[in-house]
This record gives sequence, structure tokens and C-alpha cells, in this order.
Amino acid sequence: MRVVILNDAQQVATTGKDIFIQQLADKPDSVLGLATGSTPVALYQQLICAGQKGEVSFSQATTFNLDEYLGLASDHPQSYRHFMQKQLFDHIDIQANNTHVPDGSTDSAVQACEDYEHSIANSGGIDLQLLGLGRNGHIGFNEPSSSLGSRTRVKTLTQETIKDNARFFKQGEFQPKLSLTMGIETIMQARKILLLATGSDKAEAVRAMVEGAISASCPASILQMHRNAIVVLDRDAAQQLDRLEFYLFVEQENAKLAAQQPASWPG
Ligand code: GLP
Repeated sequence: MRVVILNDAQQVATTGKDIFIQQLADKPDSVLGLATGSTPVALYQQLICAGQKGEVSFSQATTFNLDEYLGLASDHPQSYRHFMQKQLFDHIDIQANNTHVPDGSTDSAVQACEDYEHSIANSGGIDLQLLGLGRNGHIGFNEPSSSLGSRTRVKTLTQETIKDNARFFKQGEFQPKLSLTMGIETIMQARKILLLATGSDKAEAVRAMVEGAISASCPASILQMHRNAIVVLDRDAAQQLDRLEFYLFVEQENAKLAAQQPASWPG
């Protein structure tokens, strides 16, 4: 796992944007795994700007979102499909048919999850998966105790996650307690993984993910097993890391190496 620590959330977004642009330059028909939550919003804004300047095109790309609330129709203002349309898809040159978000309005959730897995497989698999991080260490909606070998399925949200996400819902508005989410193994099959975390409220989860034992108690800790995972943090999110100075040193050395040879994705 490569750990990149930057000064602030804006730099985190810029680094994420550069990674996406590089991915699409290398493979214009990339299959991209996308995430919701507040963390990726700045990255999406930068990608929209880059698209407007002609620095990136999504015209051949395919996307799969991590998760969706079960019980919300795609046009519901709090659905993740709606979020993705407003925050990214409506502003880039992606083909609508190539964007996928689990169907939260399905009345056969098990089938919908199986179909989602098949669609990912039929697309050739995810080249680059973007992740945020829950305060309890979840990725997608894979809450603590999720099977590390799980595939796309229905997951019940923890009280903590429901509370964390309540800010997006109006008072008294129906807030789902169930979700459809890619499984942990689904995520791990992506060829590359990019996780972004910012802010001090993520510091504990970041420490568990990067330096804790691999455990279903912190689902994100499974990323330690991925060969091409990069975790990009701001200083606040990194503040509880024991080896913070070491990660900074490694990145300094990486920068020197990159000046001498073409950059490669980290191991
Ligand atoms: C939700 C999403 C996750 C996301 C997490 C963190 O629970 N299902 O994919 O990573 O929130 O969100 P935020 O970036 O708003 O902290």
C-alpha cells in the first residue's frame, strides 16, 4: 500500500484528478469504479474542469458506482444515482448508457446484485476503483464485520453510518437503513485502487486501515493485501499514523526516482 500525505484536501483532490487523467490517457476505454460521499466531490469538480479544458475525455469510459441506498428511486434527491448525475455525469462527456449505479428501486435485490456483478465482469473488470472511507472503516457500504470475501449484496447500515449520512437528508425525511453495495472482494478485484481520506474525523479509521491488523472490524484494512492500492490523505486524516515520517520520506524518495525513470503505479 502506498501512502501519500499532502497538506490539504485540495491537494488530495488534485492528486486524484491527475491519477484519473493518467488512467484515461493510458486507456481511454477504462472501466472506472466511482464513489459518493463528500470526499470525492472536489475531485469530481476538478475532473469536470479538466474535461472542459479538453485535458480528459470520458467518451469511451464505463463507470460502476460502489453502492446505492435500497428503497430510493434513481431520481430521488438523496439517491447516489442522483448524486452522481449532479456531481459528475451531467457535466462530462460520458455516454449515459456506460454509467452504472446499483438499482435502489429494485424489488428483487438479490437478482439486482447478481446482475451488477455480471455487468462488471462483462465490462472486463474495473481498472481503477475510487474509494472514500467511513469513520468506522467501511468502504462502499461494507460495514465492520462484512465478509472480506463478499460480493455485491444487500447490507444493513450501522447506526454510526446512518448518523454520519443523516446530514444529507432533511429532518423527518425517510433515510434508508439498507443498501446495495459492491462486496469487499468485488472491490479488491479492481486492478488499481485509489482511496481518498481527508479531515481529522477520519484519522482513527485511517490508522486502523494502514497500520492496524487486517480485519473485518476495519473493512478498509483489506487494502493492505492489494498490490496496486494508493491511499491519499491530507495531514489531518494522517495525524494518528505512527509511521507518518516514514511515509513522507518514502514519497520524497519516490519523487527522486520518478525524476530518473517513468512513473509506475506503486506496489
Ligand atoms: C458513505 C459511502 C462511502 C463513503 C463514506 C464516506 O457511507 N457509502 O462510499 O466513502 O460515506 O463519506 P464522506 O466522504 O462523506 O465522509
